[in-house]
Amino acid sequence: MVEKVSFEDLPGVGPATAEKLKEAGFTTVEAIAVASPGELVTAADLGESTASKIIIAARKAADVGGFETGDVVLERRKSIQKLTTGSSELDRLLGGGVETQSITEFYGEFGSGKTQIAHQLAVNTQLPNEYNGLNGSVVIIDTESTFRPERITHMVEGLKERFEENDSDLGADNDDGVDLNPSQFLKRIHVARAYNSNHQILLVEAASKLAEELKDTEYPVRLLVVDSLTAHFRAEYVGRGTLADRQQRLNKHMHDLIRFAGLNNATVVVTNQVMSKPDAFFGDPTKPIGGHIVGHTATFRVYLRKSKGEKRIARLVDSPSLPEGEAIFSITTGGLRD
Ligand code: GTP
Ligand code: MG
Repeated sequence: MVEKVSFEDLPGVGPATAEKLKEAGFTTVEAIAVASPGELVTAADLGESTASKIIIAARKAADVGGFETGDVVLERRKSIQKLTTGSSELDRLLGGGVETQSITEFYGEFGSGKTQIAHQLAVNTQLPNEYNGLNGSVVIIDTESTFRPERITHMVEGLKERFEENDSDLGADNDDGVDLNPSQFLKRIHVARAYNSNHQILLVEAASKLAEELKDTEYPVRLLVVDSLTAHFRAEYVGRGTLADRQQRLNKHMHDLIRFAGLNNATVVVTNQVMSKPDAFFGDPTKPIGGHIVGHTATFRVYLRKSKGEKRIARLVDSPSLPEGEAIFSITTGGLRD
């Protein structure tokens, strides 16, 4: 058990600093624990090193980032699986596909293909392991009402064509007789519309309940999509609320998602837009929304750009284990292709 510490008790936080932090919305140890030094420097006129010390103390007090031994980590990592995107180029960039037990973030401007990738993964998750699927069901938290069952149908039909052509990128032909009936695929995709950021956070709990219910069925939940991760947070916090509050809630949300991924050996995929114009709450205009909170929690970040026609360019950013690089893929009516 961690003793409940008030943020005023943290070393380095005198009464004047406490007052300034409070004014800036940093009213809990947790809020400080997930802040960046720069944010505290600005909020409370602190030196960079004092700010770092306060954050480290807050992390300790809030038990953010506990330890486990390497053998435990290794054992868990043995069950990691890769989910194919449908493009062998994009799979290669990701080290074989989208990984379970982690969060993959696709970010890019409108039309860059984030929602299309989410649809394709919702289809591919349902394929057997031999076809680089996860033999699972899907939960989609849809914040912008962009889920389209018709696209799922197109993509299942696209798969059927690939099987008929014996497309070797699929890993196998359809000798096993995978049932490519679009209505069966649609039945295994559970979509919930999130009306605001609170609702979005609550839906992860609902997703966990559903995953629990489906755990011992033929198709346990193996993919959770949040499309878009940041749209509600961004809309709600422009001009009101505080940066600290927003960051703290986004951080909690990301941690709920990573827990979901671990508990269910599931893939979590989130989408994020890049900022078209600078705004005070979200900083740098060339960066994905959500800043370092999303960046530190997402294991894989993929930046998508539009190219000619159906072509898209994906770039892997900040991966802990894979080299940076780019892949070109296409969005066709039948789904993602090289
Ligand atoms: P925002 O959510 O607006 O930020 O964009 P996004 O990154 O989610 O873009 P999305 O995945 O919705 O990509 C839309 C693009 O996918 C379109 O501009 C088309 O290029 C392509 N696309 C969507 N549906 C089809 C289709 O049925 N056939 C083909 N060939 N392309 C499609
Ligand atoms: Mg979209």
